[in-house]
Amino acid sequence: MSQRVLVVGAGVMGHRHARAVRAAGDCVTAVVDADLARARALDENALAFSSIADALEGHDEIDAAIIATPSFQHLDQLTTLASAGIPTLVEKPHRIPGQDPAALRAAVAGGADVFIGMSTRHWPAYVALTRSVASGELGEVVSYTDRMAFALPESALPAWYFDRTISGGGVLVTNGVHSLDRARALLGPLAEVEATMRPIIPGHQIEDHALVRFRAGATSGSIELLWAPYQPLGAGLIVTGTLGSASVGMDGAWQIVTAAGERSGDAIDIDTAPFVAQWRAFRSGETGYGIDDLEPTLTLIESLYQEDTDG
Ligand SMILES: NC(=O)c1ccc[n+]([C@@H]2O[C@H](COP(=O)([O-])OP(=O)(O)OC[C@H]3O[C@@H](n4cnc5c(N)ncnc54)[C@H](O)[C@@H]3O)[C@@H](O)[C@H]2O)c1
Repeated sequence: MSQRVLVVGAGVMGHRHARAVRAAGDCVTAVVDADLARARALDENALAFSSIADALEGHDEIDAAIIATPSFQHLDQLTTLASAGIPTLVEKPHRIPGQDPAALRAAVAGGADVFIGMSTRHWPAYVALTRSVASGELGEVVSYTDRMAFALPESALPAWYFDRTISGGGVLVTNGVHSLDRARALLGPLAEVEATMRPIIPGHQIEDHALVRFRAGATSGSIELLWAPYQPLGAGLIVTGTLGSASVGMDGAWQIVTAAGERSGDAIDIDTAPFVAQWRAFRSGETGYGIDDLEPTLTLIESLYQEDTDG
């Protein structure tokens, strides 16, 4: 049956999620944005509100919600929706470093259905790679190198991304949450994790570059995250195993090579297909994206920031 969906936050990601909802045959019936004009502009057939409280008042016509507001809002909004019993897909990060997830945990313990938007794990590349690593096709993974690097011309992102009180930090939390989550999902728990980080872009108080090193069992890993004022070279993931190797590009193209042969997948529209797949995964109750799955990633990021401050 088609779901009636509330979208909270009618910015870039709110629009992207709304397209995914419609593509899956569901319907955006209500939109909340602090800026009511933005809420109205997201879907002319939906009801527009400037707060979640207003949207929920007298409404039993919401089957599910999506949160796509600036990151520091996620925890409170998710706790509110989860406490109201509304299954919710929340954009990453589900909280920013320093925020206490206790009230959210209590809401989730009450049975709330919460799904965190780890969109890159829904890329065909990562689906193929996860199966390959889990099946042992690559043998023992000896090294894992993930480099997420973006050209960031001025005004490429809204200003709040560079304000730690709203975003939680720089590239480590905004993009690193994806790469650390993927590494944990593919390799298991990460140990001996350490990071260096620094601003690069003039005027930034948050880190534009972070280099994270870790071990996962016998695997040596590194994750490099970069926002650069130029087009950076050499981004993507390389996994090297005793029986094979795999690569994933920033455009979603992938390749797995073993002695038995090779297979590959083409680049994808990373702003579209993974969000439809993610919405379907949420709808079908796919596991692996809950609070308990993602809290260890947030705790890790939190401790890396703390060590950076202390050091
Ligand atoms: N999964 C991904 O690949 C991916 C990519 C980009 C961004 N994100 C995440 O998506 C989230 C949203 O990012 P964005 O780029 O769409 O931001 P944005 O600034 O484009 O949109 C945010 C919207 O939220 C509204 N808003 C602000 N405070 C609000 C409140 N209290 N209640 C309701 N609405 C409010 C703003 O008016 C704006 O319309 C961020 O947390 C970001 O980390 C995820």
